[in-house]
Amino acid sequence: MSSLVFLALLALGSTVSHAASILQTRDTLVDCLNSSLSSHGSVRVSGDAVFTSDTIRFSSAFAPGFRVVAEVANEHDVRASITCAKRTSTPFLFTGPRHGFYEGFGKLQNALEIYTGAFWHVDIDAPSNTMTTGGAAVFKNVSGALQAVGKNIPVGGGPCVGMVGATLGAGIGRLQGLYGLIADSLLSVRLMLPDTTVLEVSKKSNPELFWGLRGAGFNFGYVLNATYRVYDAPAHGTNLNADFEYPLNSTRAFYQALHDNKMPAPLCLSTSVGFSAVQNATTLRINAVYAGPEAEGRKAVAFLQRIPLIRQNLTQIPWNTIPENSFFSLGNQRINTCGINAGKRVVRGVAFNKIDVNTHVKMTHQLDYMVNTYPQMRASSNAMYFCATQAVANKSKDETAYPWRQAIGHHTWGIVYGDANTTDADIENIPKKMRDTIAASAGTAYLNTYIGFSDGDEPAKSIWSAEHLPRLAKLKKRYDPDGLFSHYHPIPV
Ligand SMILES: *[C@@H]1O[C@H](CO)[C@@H](O)[C@H](O)[C@H]1NC(C)=O
Ligand SMILES: *[C@@H]1O[C@H](CO)[C@@H](O)[C@H](O)[C@H]1NC(C)=O
Ligand SMILES: *[C@@H]1O[C@H](CO)[C@@H](O)[C@H](O)[C@H]1NC(C)=O
Ligand SMILES: *[C@@H]1O[C@H](CO)[C@@H](O)[C@H](O)[C@H]1NC(C)=O
Ligand SMILES: *[C@@H]1O[C@H](CO)[C@@H](O)[C@H](O)[C@H]1NC(C)=O
Ligand SMILES: *[C@@H]1O[C@H](CO)[C@@H](O)[C@H](O)[C@H]1NC(C)=O
Ligand SMILES: *[C@@H]1O[C@H](CO)[C@@H](O)[C@H](O)[C@H]1NC(C)=O
Ligand SMILES: *[C@@H]1O[C@H](CO)[C@@H](O)[C@H](O)[C@H]1NC(C)=O
Repeated sequence: MSSLVFLALLALGSTVSHAASILQTRDTLVDCLNSSLSSHGSVRVSGDAVFTSDTIRFSSAFAPGFRVVAEVANEHDVRASITCAKRTSTPFLFTGPRHGFYEGFGKLQNALEIYTGAFWHVDIDAPSNTMTTGGAAVFKNVSGALQAVGKNIPVGGGPCVGMVGATLGAGIGRLQGLYGLIADSLLSVRLMLPDTTVLEVSKKSNPELFWGLRGAGFNFGYVLNATYRVYDAPAHGTNLNADFEYPLNSTRAFYQALHDNKMPAPLCLSTSVGFSAVQNATTLRINAVYAGPEAEGRKAVAFLQRIPLIRQNLTQIPWNTIPENSFFSLGNQRINTCGINAGKRVVRGVAFNKIDVNTHVKMTHQLDYMVNTYPQMRASSNAMYFCATQAVANKSKDETAYPWRQAIGHHTWGIVYGDANTTDADIENIPKKMRDTIAASAGTAYLNTYIGFSDGDEPAKSIWSAEHLPRLAKLKKRYDPDGLFSHYHPIPV
């Protein structure tokens, strides 16, 4: 090929791509958003640096694909974004902290992300013990604001999980033994429906919808604001944070102790079974938090000190500093860094009604085998949330769309793929086998899963129970007949 012809081809190529980029900028969705958002809102398109930071997710697995981001600043912008998406038949997803997992996200492509990062406010009315927050506030924002005024509320262990997002799935977490699920503290929400009307939803106002919001809340519209009951913090806002690390051969004694012990309401245990580089072996780490005076807490966790251990650390610390101190993290502030991609991760979970000691030990050996045999899986772990349940189990199953109040704990597996190409088939499907192992001995009629620990490959009844599905389907048909809010755990209709 002569160099002249080559240059001509190059020029032609660049003309074609220039024409394509002109076509791309004439995106009717962008035009609509640009002319309808308030002066505080913004439109971002792929290639813009902010577009990347607005769309990055905690896990890159099954990430949704967006063409445009609408940064909304107020209720008007939320309405305008839904309206533009409908007018251009563009599927859309509301996002805030973007910590959620769901296989089905991968099916959402070429979509509009309605980014609600502006709604991070946490407004506390201390005398009336209430708090109002928007969709972007993470647990850490909420606990920091409440700590400053001597209050608290149940929150989960991960500081970067969204408060409102967790609430809409029910919200298991520390302090649940005293106050119930996070959703049990929800008093009301302002909800924008898919048709963009705004409803006040509470026990008194639209009670059936309030029932559905607490467990399947992503299905009915966008929560503009959520108002909660908050509580006077015990022990001047301090908790006992007790960390323990054990060799794998102590797991039997641990599960036996859990089986035999009664959990006092202020106590919550979280565990992590995973590979320790220091020990060059899989170990069991336990974090026990007691929401009360130090002496009471030390008595409540003494049973954990009787099991042969590698190390321990017990300190009475401010409630809102637990995330960076739990699991021997010694105040490491990097734990509070939100909005990052933490790699390719998948989460699966099982809610269990009873502990079968042999089965729990068997599962920890399955994990040990996986991380030793397949070094690229070495960052994977099994976590168990074993918080007291007095105030959770105290309400009937039909109190909320979330059905698994009888569960005494939840296992969840954080499967981390150290390379992009390993599939579950390559690793003998151990991630699913670990779930099956626990599910088979959980004392439930079929797999029960807390939505926040769900991968999305479970049947719908595993999330909401067979009994709740018809009632939820009715709500879905009534409030979201066109299925616009169906890209995260849609209710089957
Ligand atoms: C609309 O586009 C103009 C020109 O590109 C830009 O200056 C303006 O900020 C955009 N408006 C919004 C809401 O993004
Ligand atoms: C909320 O938490 C995020 C993540 O840690 C942080 O970047 C942000 O500054 C916090 N906002 C407020 C108001 O505390
Ligand atoms: C949420 O409530 C706050 C007051 O707590 C208010 O300033 C804000 O405008 C509300 N946000 C939306 C999106 O309605
Ligand atoms: C348990 O494992 C640890 C660490 O591998 C070892 O030092 C200890 O002897 C083992 N204990 C028993 C009872 O086998
Ligand atoms: C870690 O343990 C494995 C066997 O389990 C051994 O082959 C390896 O040499 C050990 N590594 C170190 C740094 O001790
Ligand atoms: C125990 O934990 C506290 C709080 O994280 C930390 O300040 C302290 O250094 C730890 N002590 C030891 C011996 O690791
Ligand atoms: C259980 O519910 C009853 C009545 O609703 C209440 O009085 C009691 O304090 C609750 N107990 C716990 C542990 O939440
Ligand atoms: C998977 O990717 C890694 C690097 O990320 C590479 O070393 C390995 O050969 C790949 N394996 C297969 C089976 O393609």
